[in-house]
Amino acid sequence: MQKIAVIAGDGIGTEVMPEGLRVLRAVAERFGLALRFDEFDFAHCRYYEQHGQMLPDDWKDRIGGHDAIFFGAVGWPATVPDHVSLWGSLLKFRREFDQFVNLRPARLLPGVRSPLAGRGPGDIDMWIVRENTEGEYSSVGGRMYAGTEREIVIQETVMSRVGVDRVLHFAFELAASRPRARLTSATKSNGIAITMPYWDERVEAMAAQYPGVAVDKFHIDILCAHFVQRPQHFDVVVASNLFGDILSDLGPACTGTIAVAPSANLNPTREWPSLFEPVHGSAPDIAGKGIANPIGQIWAGAMMLDFLGHRAAHDAVMAAIEAVLADPAAPRTPDLGGTASCAQLGEAIARAARIARS
Ligand code: NAD
Ligand code: IPM
Ligand code: MN
Repeated sequence: MQKIAVIAGDGIGTEVMPEGLRVLRAVAERFGLALRFDEFDFAHCRYYEQHGQMLPDDWKDRIGGHDAIFFGAVGWPATVPDHVSLWGSLLKFRREFDQFVNLRPARLLPGVRSPLAGRGPGDIDMWIVRENTEGEYSSVGGRMYAGTEREIVIQETVMSRVGVDRVLHFAFELAASRPRARLTSATKSNGIAITMPYWDERVEAMAAQYPGVAVDKFHIDILCAHFVQRPQHFDVVVASNLFGDILSDLGPACTGTIAVAPSANLNPTREWPSLFEPVHGSAPDIAGKGIANPIGQIWAGAMMLDFLGHRAAHDAVMAAIEAVLADPAAPRTPDLGGTASCAQLGEAIARAARIARS
């Protein structure tokens, strides 16, 4: 029996999560997987409004023993400032569970139109490997002379040798396993002149151990331009926490909609549970309308199945997503140019997952 902690969160997190679970239950039944889903009613802003914190004091005991965490989205800025809700939940999980790799695919799927002219399926197929526990997301710093004209705020970027090397190692291994074996590093060593040259130095050191991997690097500004102008170049892209955050919205946007993109927050040592979620947030602008696209959540579920050792079930979910997207008669949510509801798209994928090849 594998135990999965389920946390839906805020906004459309509560709408896409049931669809993610619907598809997981469908393939669990088909493949005879012993999965137990334990739903937790915390790590959302409604909880904060009642308790003054995002999590109960014993949160780590309650979810730390699970095999994985299936997560929706957190944030409701109308009632709780984003940095409070996110540092009180998702970012805490990433750190406390040492989920140091954030693995995010950007793939143009059949039946989805890229906003980039002339791009079709196969033209965009990359893995973004984002450092997930340090870097620009640091709590080192503070505010001085608050409220005066001398007010000053400082937030340090932290890069440790262990922290940089372990995410690079993951990215190089991934690149080495791919047919094109290309790794691109996101840098900004021209302007950020202490941490980024260090990042480049560690990339070069790691590259020496992987002669079969073709390595290049671009400053983050021109890298964003290349994502748009020649996305077919990219295979594995490794980036610091902030640069990886930005690239992992840009990459999926180039594939048509950020709503399909999944995210695996991995603790590769498996000492702690890994966390699987869509890349997108709680989308307050469409929350409550039932029109959110559930594919990011469903694809995140597929990545979780793979991580838990259920490759055939993963393949069935991916085949189902692709079959539904490629079918012009299948339901499509508004972000995909259709009028279907979140549940209609989720149901169609669950149905397809019961029969899709694996
Ligand atoms: P967002 O991803 O929530 O939304 C950005 C835009 O994309 C919105 O127009 C939204 O309607 C659309 N969108 C997002 N997901 C969609 C889906 N599944 N289907 C259709 N359209 C979708 O980003 P934001 O507006 O910057 O953030 C909103 C809140 O979510 C904030 O509180 C933010 O901090 C939080 N957030 C949380 C996570 C997370 O939990 N991992 C990620 C990003 C943002
Ligand atoms: C993401 C999100 C988070 C991040 C926010 C909500 C803190 O944008 O998972 O990409 O910046 O990591
Ligand atoms: Mn992001």
